[in-house]
Amino acid sequence: VHDAALRDLRSVLGDRYVISDPDVRAPHEVDWTGRWRGVAAAVVRPGSAEEVLEVVQVARRHGVQLVPQGGNTGLVGGATPRDGQVVVDLRRLRELGPVDEQAAQVTAGAGATLTSLQAHARAHGLELAVDLGARDTATIGGMVATNAGGTHVVRYGPMRAQLLGIEVVLGTGALVQANLAGLLKDNTGYDLVGLLCGSEGTLGIITRTRLRLVPAPRTRLALLLGFSSVTDAVAALPHLRARSSLAAVEMMRRDGIELVADHLGVAFPLQPVPVCTLLVELIGDDGEADAGVLVAATGVSDASTAVATDEVGAAGLWRWREGHPEAAAARGLVHKADVTLPFDELSTFNTRIDDAIERVAPGALTIVYGHLADGNLHVNVVGPAADDEQPVDAVLDLVLQLGGSVSAEHGIGVAKRRWVVRQRGETAVAAMQAVKSALDPDGILNPGVLLPDAR
Ligand code: FAD
Ligand code: MLT
Ligand code: ZN
Repeated sequence: VHDAALRDLRSVLGDRYVISDPDVRAPHEVDWTGRWRGVAAAVVRPGSAEEVLEVVQVARRHGVQLVPQGGNTGLVGGATPRDGQVVVDLRRLRELGPVDEQAAQVTAGAGATLTSLQAHARAHGLELAVDLGARDTATIGGMVATNAGGTHVVRYGPMRAQLLGIEVVLGTGALVQANLAGLLKDNTGYDLVGLLCGSEGTLGIITRTRLRLVPAPRTRLALLLGFSSVTDAVAALPHLRARSSLAAVEMMRRDGIELVADHLGVAFPLQPVPVCTLLVELIGDDGEADAGVLVAATGVSDASTAVATDEVGAAGLWRWREGHPEAAAARGLVHKADVTLPFDELSTFNTRIDDAIERVAPGALTIVYGHLADGNLHVNVVGPAADDEQPVDAVLDLVLQLGGSVSAEHGIGVAKRRWVVRQRGETAVAAMQAVKSALDPDGILNPGVLLPDAR
């Protein structure tokens, strides 16, 4: 990056918010898994939408490439700079508007963390419907940019289903506001809000969002159901879906549970550890009654059931599921494959996946868990070197053979860019490239992410 560009950025943001110090830059230059790294020319920290606009305008003038970054918890390398790019850290945009109880909505700055938004909303008996393990660090802007899913998609849908309005600085250098008033019905042309959601920083830099909120449940009940196979667990889904109180269905396999038990130094509540365990969350006043009906309907024995009816107990059970990513990371660099399968292929995928990985990465540790009711599994492979593409390729190849999706909720980033054409087809990707050229004509926003290089 040209000195003149850095000088212009300093004059827009002030010296304090244009960071060149390698020690301060360092946490912005590597992703959560440690698989992706780069050396940024600088990290800039705009404090308002107007400053973001000026940053984009400077970048256009000087041909500087920008990498938007929120909490840097993304798992596909999309927020990691490639050498010479400038990281735009959006966490100063953390302002939360008043909670609108009439509409059950709130306006949130892109840099607000999920946890801060939840505390704000819960003070009014409301919450954002999307929840995920990285809640203390992940930002609303990052969650919108990736269309994050998490644990309550079965009930409420992903981030896109919560997003009503957006403020964004496009790659063209235009500041656009779309439905920040949160009108529930607004059929006035192309859906810019939906388009920006899941765009992974390639079309615009999100500065504010208008979000739908849902009632914070008065009771939250968690239960573990142990099954002797993934097939049996999948077969229980219709019984789970029959409960109107259903809020989450998370899957864990025995090997993952044993890894977490080792990591936490605690024994799993169900012994012997079942081959496949579902963590089910029920919300609302009928949770307890529903739990009884549900256990009877699935035919799971009492010995293979654990129920937590209070918040502390429920958090104790959730720790098992949420401990998976960190327990895997504690064993080394993790290769992540986040995928969706058609429901009737989940069990085939599960029986074939370990061998498929063993063939390309002998002796690797493979852990599978996920959001079962969404058909969404997370395959984690520990062992292979950071630049070894074979483990994730083996997973994605099997996923496409079985008719699934190579990205369920984490996005494409740099990790899966080679797979976009195989997933979506040439003509759909050409349409996406046309949108990219229209909204980011100079290609300054996150080049190298999501789309394959234009031919
Ligand atoms: P970052 O990692 O900073 O960025 C992610 C992408 O969004 C990048 O492409 C970046 O360029 C872009 N971006 C960030 N902010 C903006 C902005 N303001 N404007 C435009 N583009 C932007 N994900 C799930 O979906 N479900 C889960 O259950 C889940 N659980 C997780 C658990 C753990 C322990 C961890 C570490 C991660 C988990 N994730 C999960 C992944 C991650 O938390 C999500 O992808 C999250 O949405 C990323 O938010 P972030 O603020 O950290 O974004
Ligand atoms: C999860 O559901 O735990 C996350 O998406 C993170 C992961 O895949 O490890
Ligand atoms: Zn997940």
